[in-house]
Amino acid sequence: MPEELRLQADFLQLLERDNPLCEISEWVWSELQRGSRDRNHPWNLGCISTVERQNSGELLPRSRTVVLRGVDTRSRTLDFYTDGRSAKVCSLLDPNVTPRVCWLFYRHETRVQVRVDGRCEILARDQAEEYWKSTPSDSHKLYATKDPPGTRMENQLPNDPEYDFDRAQDHFFVVRTRVENIDLVSLSSKGNRRLTIEYEDLSLPARLSWRTP
Ligand SMILES: Cc1cc2nc3c(=O)[nH]c(=O)nc-3n(C[C@H](O)[C@H](O)[C@H](O)COP(=O)(O)O)c2cc1C
Repeated sequence: MPEELRLQADFLQLLERDNPLCEISEWVWSELQRGSRDRNHPWNLGCISTVERQNSGELLPRSRTVVLRGVDTRSRTLDFYTDGRSAKVCSLLDPNVTPRVCWLFYRHETRVQVRVDGRCEILARDQAEEYWKSTPSDSHKLYATKDPPGTRMENQLPNDPEYDFDRAQDHFFVVRTRVENIDLVSLSSKGNRRLTIEYEDLSLPARLSWRTP
């Protein structure tokens, strides 16, 4: 069965269990973990949104796709890697904006949407170095452009930007989201479902509730 359909089938099966809310909560985290390890999993790619201050001072929502690189089910964190010069990192470092991010995982075939809210931290250099060492060297190019991401180019050729591989590691950032809230919606001919999982403190159990879809 394709990965997408399995995801939806698994979710529907959990509804039959004695304590579906708890089972679904555990399932969401184990699927996120699988997403971070398996490129073919529907949740390997997520969309993250941040609020960004424009030059005019206006705050605008901004979304983009990123690869889910790491999931820690115990500390309830999600990681992505990025270029520290990118607009999203600038917004997370803006002292006047709370460093919050909203992740969205969805593929048409799954009909299961997972929205995750959390607070972000950027890992310190020495911590990020561990992750840098484990990234394949061909992906170092992603962080090696001389100009920051988004700089205007004269033409479209992908080999045009100049690279400086000695600086690539300086631009490699690991962004960690500490999850505070998960909102899951499943659309199905057997009935639409919506539930939320709220975390107050790591030492406290999550608050689970069904919601009107
Ligand atoms: C399939 C796909 C995966 C991507 N993965 C990442 C990623 O893991 N990290 C990242 O910073 N950008 C990734 N990008 C590029 C971002 O979507 C975005 O264009 C870029 O990071 C600049 O975003 P910003 O200007 O809003 O900061 C990916 C794009 C695509 C299409």
